[in-house]
Amino acid sequence: MKYSKKELQRELTLPQFPLSAKYDIEWVNENEMGPNSMWLVEFLLNKMKLRNGMKVLDLGCGKALTSIFLAKEFGVKVWAADLWIGATENYQRIKEQGVDDLVYPIHADAHSLPFAHGFFDAIVSIDAYHYFGTNEMYLESLIRYLKPNGQIGIVVPSVHKEFDSKVPENLKPYWEPYLFTHHSPNWWKELWERSETVTVQVADTMPNGYDNWLKWDKTLKEAGILKRNGDVEMLEADGGNFTFARIVANKK
Ligand SMILES: C[S@@+](CC[C@H](N)C(=O)[O-])C[C@H]1O[C@@H](n2cnc3c(N)ncnc32)[C@H](O)[C@@H]1O
Repeated sequence: MKYSKKELQRELTLPQFPLSAKYDIEWVNENEMGPNSMWLVEFLLNKMKLRNGMKVLDLGCGKALTSIFLAKEFGVKVWAADLWIGATENYQRIKEQGVDDLVYPIHADAHSLPFAHGFFDAIVSIDAYHYFGTNEMYLESLIRYLKPNGQIGIVVPSVHKEFDSKVPENLKPYWEPYLFTHHSPNWWKELWERSETVTVQVADTMPNGYDNWLKWDKTLKEAGILKRNGDVEMLEADGGNFTFARIVANKK
């Protein structure tokens, strides 16, 4: 292994994300389902106002890393909902992290959620909303679970320049059709504004988003512990169009 545990932790600690720096890189790597969800959720929460005791839906929470982060760092109550990962598996992880009084795991499909309308103060979704939220009607169906003026925020893999239904030459060797779900912040802003259900407060990209994504995958790959296939070759071929988008809005 190229890095000792300490070196790996140092290498993947970014001043941009001081809260994420508290979490063990090997544990994050073990449980993540995309590039460092702690960095992504910290980036999102810089633009959301969460207070102790608020009720938050973490939609598409995967292995509940971000739900654990939300509970530990903000003291909010989190309904950790995911489709591919079961509630019992997540409950185990939540208990191990000592936040089972604040994080409630739910096995649910984003298209038929088992919650009361108007229940949540906030909805967050990290590296997941593009799987279920790209059509014109989805936001309207989701927003009913928020209180009036409640907040919704997502971070998704994104592009600076839209693909416009054409596969770029340089990405052809790595292309998978789902990459067409990677849209620019402006694309998401327009989609959400057309729904007339929210006021968009923020639609931007993560500063150094491409560099951070590449650094995370490349460092873990060099360390020999990257569990996913990783995006190193694709990102290098891309050269900087890929990034992460952050969209934050309030229910009207
Ligand atoms: C790339 S993973 C990200 C997981 C987690 N947020 C993270 O960053 O580690 C995408 C997640 O979206 C979830 N997902 C996809 N479609 C979904 C749906 N229809 N309802 C709920 N979750 C869904 C999957 O279960 C998966 O855990």
